[in-house]
Formats: sequence, C-alpha cells, structure tokens
Amino acid sequence: MAAEALLAVEDLVAGYGPVTILRGASLEVAAGTVTTVIGPNGAGKSTLMKAVFGLLPPRGGRVRFAGEEITGRSPRELLARGLVFVPQGRNLFPELSVRHNLELGAAAFALSDLDARVDALLARFPVLGERAGMQASVLSGGEQKLLEIARALLLEPRLLLVDEPSLGLSPKMTREIFAILTALRDRGVAVLMIEQNAKSALGISDVGIVLDQGRVALQAPAGEILADPRIGRLFLGGGLA
Ligand SMILES: Nc1ncnc2c1ncn2[C@@H]1O[C@H](COP(=O)(O)OP(=O)(O)OP(=O)(O)O)[C@@H](O)[C@H]1O
Ligand SMILES: [Mg+2]
Repeated sequence: MAAEALLAVEDLVAGYGPVTILRGASLEVAAGTVTTVIGPNGAGKSTLMKAVFGLLPPRGGRVRFAGEEITGRSPRELLARGLVFVPQGRNLFPELSVRHNLELGAAAFALSDLDARVDALLARFPVLGERAGMQASVLSGGEQKLLEIARALLLEPRLLLVDEPSLGLSPKMTREIFAILTALRDRGVAVLMIEQNAKSALGISDVGIVLDQGRVALQAPAGEILADPRIGRLFLGGGLA
C-alpha cells in the first residue's frame, strides 16, 4: 500500500456568499515533490489554497495533512503543523527592513531561536543577507518574492503553498525562483504551487494538477501533462474534453 500523501484534499467545496467555486476538488501532494496546479482564470486555484490554508471555511469535503485531519483549521494552527502559504502578489511590509520582514514569519509564535533562524536564512540567501538592513521596498520584484519565500521558511515547514510566484517577474527571475523551489524539495520541503506560466512550471515539477471549473480534471506526472494536447486547448478556452 502506498504511503499516505503529505496533503490529501478530498471533495473540497468552497465559495463566496451564494457562489460555489470549488465543486468537490480532490488532489494529493506527496512528500518530496513539487506539484503545480494549472487551470484557466477563475477555475478556483487561489480559492483552493485559501480553503486549504484556513482562510476560507470549507463547505464540504476534507483536508488531511501529515496524517491529521485539518479541515477548517486556522492558519495559525496550520503554521504550527508545518504548512505555510505565500499568497499571490506583494505581501511584505515595504517600510520595514528585510530582516524585520523575515522575523515576522514567526510573528504568531515565540521562538527562542528566532535570531539564529533569521541569520541562517540571510546566509542561505545572500541577495537578502546583503540587504538585511534595507527597506523591503528597495528590493526588485523577484527579490521581494524571494523574501516572502524565505519568510515562509522561518517556521521550517513541511509543505509550502505558493500562489503564482512568477507573477510580474522576468523570465530570468522566474527561473531563479523556480530553482529555489526545486532546491527546497531537495531539502525535504514539499511545494504546491499555482502557476499561469504553465509550461515552465510543469518543466520543473514532479506532478501537475489541472483545475477546471472547481474540480480537478487531471492529476498526473508533470511530463505527461506537458505532452497532453488537451492542455493547450484548455488554456485557449476549449475546456478539458
Ligand atoms: N473574495 C471573493 N469574493 C467573491 N468572489 C470571489 C472572491 N475571490 C474570488 N472570487 C471568485 O471566485 C472565482 C475563482 O477565483 P480564484 O481566485 O480562485 O480563481 P483562480 O483560478 O485563482 O484565477 P486566476 O488564474 O485569475 O488567479 C472567480 O470567479 C472570482 O471572481
Ligand atoms: Mg488565482
């Protein structure tokens, strides 16, 4: 029997007010993998992450993480269990220093070794270390995304959820961010990301997931999804036949 997945989402239903967006989405993320969710605009990709991370109450279904049911648990509880989330867009405090932004990754917890953890991250990501005392606002878009990812690592997660990390970044910076995500996998942190940049993202992923109209239409090895002619049609609006 296969080992239980690190994250298992089963028949998840969620929405906003009268509108149902996720209509029974099921997927699994194995430890030691990068898994990428693709799908058309409005498919419910960000909604899926919000519902998993406790930012949107699920209306049905369940979520298991590391062998424990976590459906509807608060973000703080999930952070404590090793699940972290880097949302889409800019999520830093621009006036605060790079170091201070990093420290805020543990704002909900009293870590006795906070300084040592921050120093370790600043050493691991020299681009940040060299700018530790500068305001976050002086960083480039890619460096800011790197800082958000580094901040999420402060709590030493087992699974990183990241929504569209390449949004607004140059191809070069996108490659660098993707390289950081694959390096995380190699250090034992699983990654579940959402990407519009489907081809590049699947190219560095182990598993791909196609979300369409609030349901998982396909979960398969990333290479298989890249080679599937239906995927191109899906992104041209044809739906996954
Ligand atoms: N806070 C909200 N209140 C009401 N409707 C929302 C809210 N957030 C998202 N929606 C709606 O839910 C649907 C799915 O949104 P979601 O952000 O999950 O899509 P997505 O797949 O991430 O799309 P994109 O690729 O554009 O980021 C959309 O129709 C959107 O308008
Ligand atoms: Mg989205």
